[in-house]
Amino acid sequence: MIVRTTLLKTVLAVLLVTQSAPVFVNASQDPASLAPFVPTPYQVVDRMLELAQITENDVVYDLGCGDGRIVIAAAELYGARGVGIDYDPERIAEARANAQRRGVGDLVTFIEQDAMQADVSDATVVMLYLLSSSNIKLRPMLTKQLKPGSRIVSHAFRMGDWQPEVTQEFQDARGGTRTIHLWRTDGKERP
Ligand SMILES: C[S@@+](CC[C@H](N)C(=O)[O-])C[C@H]1O[C@@H](n2cnc3c(N)ncnc32)[C@H](O)[C@@H]1O
Repeated sequence: MIVRTTLLKTVLAVLLVTQSAPVFVNASQDPASLAPFVPTPYQVVDRMLELAQITENDVVYDLGCGDGRIVIAAAELYGARGVGIDYDPERIAEARANAQRRGVGDLVTFIEQDAMQADVSDATVVMLYLLSSSNIKLRPMLTKQLKPGSRIVSHAFRMGDWQPEVTQEFQDARGGTRTIHLWRTDGKERP
């Protein structure tokens, strides 16, 4: 059983890295899991922040924040406030320690919570690096809660039939192709 779970997590991590996860893939045998922990490379983090045109007036959420690198970078580079949400207590402890180390503990907050239960109503930007199926699960609550004009940026994965406003493709430091997408909410709820 342990071997099967480990194997499944490895396969899913590879899918995240290769960006080829089909929409029907379950994140793991844990029904709450939206994706395994695979951090976004810093070069891609920078591109996501640029695509969202982050400023110090933004409140940046990362649903499934891992080690907190996206909201920490938004705070460090742009002075934005940030909230990272992850259901894994180890990730939250790591993210809080990283924020203290980088001197942005006053700008960022990390919450141990299921992202499906999150309140993102004060976000101006939501960052995602999950799976297509997970983005689709989050889509109703994102489009219901976010104020019109909020930006959603996803590393690699799309949101079903909701077409992104911008898609950028570029080579990462290892020569792999990375894709990031931007959507802007318009007040229309998308189930
Ligand atoms: C692919 S990693 C992305 C980490 C970070 N956002 C980044 O881009 O570097 C996905 C993260 O989502 C978290 N996660 C998975 N399911 C979740 C859920 N239901 N609620 C909150 N976090 C979840 C995992 O623990 C993991 O840290």
